[in-house]
Amino acid sequence: MSTERPKLQGPEERKISLIRNPVSLIGAALAATSLATIAFLFFVNFVSVRPNPYIGVLLFMVAPAFLILGLLLILLGLLLERRRRRKGKPGVIPRFPRIDLNVPAQRNAFTFFVSCAAVFVLISAMGSYRSYEFTDSVQFCGQTCHTVMQPEYTTYLQSPHARVECVECHVGPGAGWYVHSKLSGSYQVYAAIFHKYPRPIPTPVANLRPAQQTCEQCHWPRKFYGAQLKVFYHYGDDEKNTPRQIRMLINTGGAQPNTGLPAGIHWHMNIENRITYIATDAQHQVIPWVQSRDMQGRTAVYMAKDSSLTPEQIGKATKHLMDCIDCHDRPSHIFTPPDRSVDDSLLAGRIDRSLPFIKQQGVLALTKSYNTTDEALRGIAADIQRFYSTKYADVYASRGTPIQAAIADLQHIYQSTIFPYMKVDWRTHPNNIGHFYTPGCFRCHDGQHVSSDGKVIPKDCDTCHTVLAQLQSGVPLIKHEEGIPFEHPVDIGDLTQVSCSDCHNGGVGP
Ligand code: HEC
Ligand code: HEC
Ligand code: HEC
Ligand code: HEC
Ligand code: HEC
Ligand code: HEC
Repeated sequence: MSTERPKLQGPEERKISLIRNPVSLIGAALAATSLATIAFLFFVNFVSVRPNPYIGVLLFMVAPAFLILGLLLILLGLLLERRRRRKGKPGVIPRFPRIDLNVPAQRNAFTFFVSCAAVFVLISAMGSYRSYEFTDSVQFCGQTCHTVMQPEYTTYLQSPHARVECVECHVGPGAGWYVHSKLSGSYQVYAAIFHKYPRPIPTPVANLRPAQQTCEQCHWPRKFYGAQLKVFYHYGDDEKNTPRQIRMLINTGGAQPNTGLPAGIHWHMNIENRITYIATDAQHQVIPWVQSRDMQGRTAVYMAKDSSLTPEQIGKATKHLMDCIDCHDRPSHIFTPPDRSVDDSLLAGRIDRSLPFIKQQGVLALTKSYNTTDEALRGIAADIQRFYSTKYADVYASRGTPIQAAIADLQHIYQSTIFPYMKVDWRTHPNNIGHFYTPGCFRCHDGQHVSSDGKVIPKDCDTCHTVLAQLQSGVPLIKHEEGIPFEHPVDIGDLTQVSCSDCHNGGVGP
């Protein structure tokens, strides 16, 4: 359609078309090639079941950029050429082109030009919407810069949020956030292409820290969760990989006064409660100063006993308002510690529990330091084989299959939780839920944070959970592991023989 331009010139200028100039011709070639590329990629993208993420980058970002560049070059060439010709014959060629819609040829050319322009605008609008959608897709965020995002993407795929798109947490609602993220995003694309990124990608990434609002698109902190049963399985470091089990009620709680009993762990999130804190490191692992303001407006300031913060430093320091991410910092990128991963595999039977010392040896092999994933995979296989061939020759000879299966599972654990290239593992990205492998809740609830009137942020073991049962080798350390029989308040005979809803109908009745 760009070739229409010269036809709009006065009849005396039509001898040699204005477009015959090097700049416009290069532009035309560029535009035509890009258009053909777009058509081809569009077709490939359309027919392939799982399109390669790079096709997306080419189709929705690179090729359109070249198309627009080509069109701009054509225009620039026309303008330059016109200026050159005008210089030769001043006065003959007027300053601006004359369009006379009464001349049929010019009218047709004009109509043709306008309709082409309209189609182009329409297609680019659709195209830019697709590009917009594409830059928001999990494919773009997680796979395109694959080595950079591999740790986050791999762990994301195994998390409860695997079906939630990256942007749902990292961009959140509203145009302001969108522009913000695209601006910092463009820098990140540049950084990824030119290898200008830090390893590991630090947490938090400025501008990408999800906010409470993003979680609240789906979760509602006022919901009262009550107490929830969680069972923790562990295996010992001994020859028999002795199993242990802890069952506890986690008092998640929640709510605010008008929707339910405000209590439990989500108490922090009550709209009326505000907890602010000062952290001395970027990852907020060291918290010497905490202030809480409760529903009645009473405030308390807790200081770590070993803190050396001066009042001036406290005055100047940034105070963070505690929100979901201070506890749920790993809702999606969970870098499970090897100890937990191997326990999970033993529990699921992916690793044979009867192999002597497999828990201990598996964790040892996983926690050694390796320079590359390949080196790790070879190292893990060699270590486990060496252990059994030297220490348990009979097991090594007779139990080849489970040993191989254990090695394969350990290698899988390594590949999905430890990323030597990006220098990422459970130690670089601590999980703040709980307190078992990292300080987590004990950053504040360590019994060492005291207020001026002697109040302590509680560390009592039943503040957050109630242990119901504890078993070792299947033997209860604490009784009740089978529960106690339900006693009906009035004797109605054998409970298995009655239908509860016969009497309890939700209305008036028992
Ligand atoms: C359920 C919400 C959620 C989803 C979905 C999600 N993230 Fe995250 N992401 C987080 C949180 C929370 C952090 C830690 C923020 C902090 O502590 O500052 C984080 C951190 C990161 C980091 C910084 C490094 C790190 O591990 O702390 C990167 C990079 C990242 N996410 C990329 C992605 C990509 C790519 C996707 C999609 C494949 C994605 N995220 C999906 C919540 C999410
Ligand atoms: C787009 C919706 C969406 C967003 C946004 C979202 N989540 Fe979720 N979240 C879910 C769904 C759905 C589940 C349940 C997954 C399942 O159990 O299959 C879930 C589960 C969870 C769980 C329970 C995990 C478990 O192990 O059972 C936690 C904790 C959680 N989300 C925290 C967060 C936090 C913190 C954020 C903000 C960073 C967030 N979510 C953002 C949809 C979302
Ligand atoms: C003080 C730390 C803390 C804060 C702050 C916090 N949570 Fe939680 N949340 C927990 C703990 C602990 C659990 C229990 C689950 C567990 O142990 O894995 C939990 C459980 C959950 C669950 C899962 C409930 C289930 O069905 O198992 C969701 C969803 C959740 N939180 C969302 C949120 C959201 C959204 C916010 C912010 C508005 C938030 N949490 C703030 C500590 C916290
Ligand atoms: C930034 C510091 C900080 C962190 C981190 C923190 N808390 Fe707290 N927590 C507090 C403060 C302050 C109080 C209020 C103590 C008071 O004034 O009685 C509190 C109170 C509580 C209470 C008691 C609520 C009640 O009913 O009285 C529970 C339960 C609790 N926290 C659970 C947790 C859990 C679980 C975690 C880790 C996932 C955690 N907290 C992490 C600061 C923190
Ligand atoms: C401030 C809240 C809080 C306090 C105080 C607390 N815990 Fe916990 N604890 C948690 C949370 C939350 C979890 C669950 C972590 C998870 O979901 O992975 C947990 C998990 C555990 C587990 C299971 C860990 C595992 O992986 O097997 C044990 C055991 C435990 N706590 C013991 C204790 C003991 C003993 C004390 C007293 C010294 C204590 N806790 C004090 C919040 C707390
Ligand atoms: C024959 C009628 C009948 C049947 C069937 C029955 N109940 Fe009841 N149930 C009662 C009566 C009457 C009360 C009230 C006792 C009182 O107030 O002292 C009651 C009370 C209860 C309560 C105490 C809470 C309340 O509402 O007072 C529970 C819990 C309960 N029943 C559970 C069950 C369950 C579970 C079943 C089914 C296995 C069941 N009941 C079957 C008659 C029945």
